[in-house]
Amino acid sequence: MLRARPGWSGTLGFVPTMGALHEGHLALIRRAVDENERALCSIFVNPTQFNDESDLAQYPRTPGPDIGRLVEADCDLLYMPSAGEVYPGGTGYDLDWDPGALDEVMEGRQRPGHFKGVAQILKRLLEIVQPQRLYMGQKDYQQVRVVEALIAHYQLPVQLIMHPIVREPDGLAMSSRN
Ligand code: PAF
Repeated sequence: MLRARPGWSGTLGFVPTMGALHEGHLALIRRAVDENERALCSIFVNPTQFNDESDLAQYPRTPGPDIGRLVEADCDLLYMPSAGEVYPGGTGYDLDWDPGALDEVMEGRQRPGHFKGVAQILKRLLEIVQPQRLYMGQKDYQQVRVVEALIAHYQLPVQLIMHPIVREPDGLAMSSRN
């Protein structure tokens, strides 16, 4: 169900990212632009989903080109918070729910705690942004399933939309890490 806000009659479509935007992100953003009155992209390299400090330090950060791509894609709003703004009480895990088995299989086995961090940041971002629709890529299928379970657990009033994988010409799924 869509929540009415004073002076607001439309829907807000939300695309959470960690930046280094590529065609895969832009496909989500264009879809959010097409399907909603306003589209918002967040760029936040979430420390709680990295279990390796050097991986976090090396993660690409390209705000200038990212903003140019968002403008080209007609994205209405960009939310690029600091860690202090997102986690005013610190980065400790503060949810009374965790992804359980979903955090322990496949990618979760290689990256312990990764999906707990994803759940933690999505809960925060959804509280802050309050979108009606949330767009995520099928490339990160396990992540989508974690977020789906999070939304169901907290009965968050948002529709999760999974967008098909966008691939390079050679078939590789597009990724900021490529
Ligand atoms: O897929 C990503 O880029 C991140 O895991 C996400 C969903 C933005 C949460 O930090």
